[in-house]
Amino acid sequence: MKSPAPAHRRHFIALVAAGLVLAGCKPSDDAGKPGAASTGAIVVGEFASLHGSEAAFGQSSHKGTELAFDVIRSNGGLLGREVRLITEDNQSKAGESATIAKKFVSRDHVVAVLGEVASGRSLEAAPICQAAGIPMISPSSTNPKVTEVGDHVFRVCFTDPFQGKLLADFAWKSLKVRRVAILADTASAYSVGLADFFRQPFVAAGGTVVTEVKYASRDKDFKAQLTAIKAAAPDGLCVPGYYTEVGLIVKQARELGLTVPIFGGDGWEAPQLIEIAGSEALKNTFYSTHFSPAQDNPAVKAFVAAFKSKFNEVPDAMAALGYDSAMALAEAIKKAGSTDPAKVTAALAATDFVGVTGRTKLDAQRNATKPAVIITVENGGFKFLQTVEP
Ligand code: PHE
Repeated sequence: MKSPAPAHRRHFIALVAAGLVLAGCKPSDDAGKPGAASTGAIVVGEFASLHGSEAAFGQSSHKGTELAFDVIRSNGGLLGREVRLITEDNQSKAGESATIAKKFVSRDHVVAVLGEVASGRSLEAAPICQAAGIPMISPSSTNPKVTEVGDHVFRVCFTDPFQGKLLADFAWKSLKVRRVAILADTASAYSVGLADFFRQPFVAAGGTVVTEVKYASRDKDFKAQLTAIKAAAPDGLCVPGYYTEVGLIVKQARELGLTVPIFGGDGWEAPQLIEIAGSEALKNTFYSTHFSPAQDNPAVKAFVAAFKSKFNEVPDAMAALGYDSAMALAEAIKKAGSTDPAKVTAALAATDFVGVTGRTKLDAQRNATKPAVIITVENGGFKFLQTVEP
């Protein structure tokens, strides 16, 4: 473990002073319902994919959440009380997130639940939180269905109708794609949704979908699908998937001589993408996401510096949204002046604060409208191309 350098303290103080956290309020007097004890530590549950095929998502989001809890603690906790984060690993496996959410509700009596990155796993936990009346905040699940589960389910990121549209615009206008092929993951709610939200505006703009082929998460060989795609002669390939499969798809596509631009959404975001595909194969590829550490903005700079000091790495979109999800909760608990889940839920519904991923103002559907960024791969690293305003 690296001992904190003097720079660490400086960055940390800058982050705290950046006004990201308000001063603690006085304790409340709510009754002893689960999650609503008025004394003792305020317990928050976080579920994340710390191992398995989407471990990069969970690890990164968790680090952002941890940094936020450091900031909250250094400001004296919440409502004059200590804050405790319980983190559970779903290992990227289906079924685990529901089990964890049940444990958070019935055993840990959490005030709120933070998670997940992948929409499919947020969709597993959301009905349990909703039924228990415990607020859940997804940092980065973009599928619209997540917050449709009910009035206790929130997110601090944009949604896929926006992301699909911006990808269609980018493909049409910047990449000049006219004949697209789509390769989506039928086992992922995120992938199926994003394929739809891309297809509609792309076709509306005058584009043609020359072929649409499927795969399933954990597949390793995509040669059959890619051969069919090559035969359809597209001038662009849209792959709305997660980095583990996307990395293999890009690599195998280039091996088959498919040289067209390949693009997708935030599911591409992980350093492992470059490890799996190799930077040569990733030339002429593009993805949209929520945040770039290269953005020139004081809140981003303070966050990046504090994150680097604590973890010795540069934060990505999941880290930034993990941080903002915890900050949104802290703001809501302070505003509610209570840990009563109903009061925290009401305060969350009125969320409007400036996070490291920009202004986070929730609408009546508990979704945020925020800018996106487009990234490409160049010289073996990710390169920020442009910001897309909603
Ligand atoms: N938006 C993706 C989903 O809903 C998850 C994701 C978020 C992946 C941010 C990478 C970065 O499943």
